[in-house]
Amino acid sequence: MKQSLCSVTSNVEAIPGIHLMWIDAPDIAVTAQPGQFITVRCGGFTLRRPFSVHQSSPLTGGNSGEGEIALLFKVTGKGTLWLSQQQKGDRIDILGPLGKGFSIEQGSKNLLLVAGGIGIAPLVLLAQHALSQYQLTLIHGASTAAQLYPFSSTGKKRSKLTPSLKGVQFVPVTEDGSMGKKGMATDILSDFLDWADQVYACGPLDMYKAMAKMSLRAKRNNLKLTKCQIALEVRMGCGFGACYGCTINTKKGLKQVCRDGPVFELDDIIWQEVTI
Ligand code: FES
Repeated sequence: MKQSLCSVTSNVEAIPGIHLMWIDAPDIAVTAQPGQFITVRCGGFTLRRPFSVHQSSPLTGGNSGEGEIALLFKVTGKGTLWLSQQQKGDRIDILGPLGKGFSIEQGSKNLLLVAGGIGIAPLVLLAQHALSQYQLTLIHGASTAAQLYPFSSTGKKRSKLTPSLKGVQFVPVTEDGSMGKKGMATDILSDFLDWADQVYACGPLDMYKAMAKMSLRAKRNNLKLTKCQIALEVRMGCGFGACYGCTINTKKGLKQVCRDGPVFELDDIIWQEVTI
């Protein structure tokens, strides 16, 4: 974990209301693991804001400079509004990489990635890390086609905006049916569970609760149980285990999301007690 002042190298509104920002941060670009996050001091706000590492430039093979990381974030309040207004050359105070990320078990071949909305952010870095060794399917659920990630699986559109995820099967799902199947990402999850050795998910609380119910049903009916890791997003204070502001109760006792997570096993969380 390192705190540094880093330069913004680009910042675009990649999806309406969602910004893709590249930052020159060589140490984090080399060490950040999928699922880990950084915190950013946004303007004059005391509390730093946590953001998943979305991409890192050694892996893009595209136009981005060496030693850069990308954040993908939705403008939801004053802190993220401030961040969305930073331009090329502005310097921002970042701290990271923080937390524990996703892990891939030995023997796994087929990985199913499930993203709800902005939950796509950490899963793209996981896909970038894993695509040379594993078969990947990425389900992205969004409200409309315009809110889907600008995904390129052809390898042709390599740019900072559309990372090359050649070979990844992309399955869009939209609530209004404007692209892919109509509904939620979890509606089609069961179609892939026989194929998947492991599932990795990031999205809203309702998505996790629906997945936890599916897992419980499978357990009761003695069906195949696919191990699932989820990235939890909660309000944070310090971001590195000092304030206990992010503590949650799990089946394995009290855990700090920032230090013990943000990635947890789906079945370890007591979902009725989680508020995000
Ligand atoms: Fe302070 Fe997790 S945010 S302990």
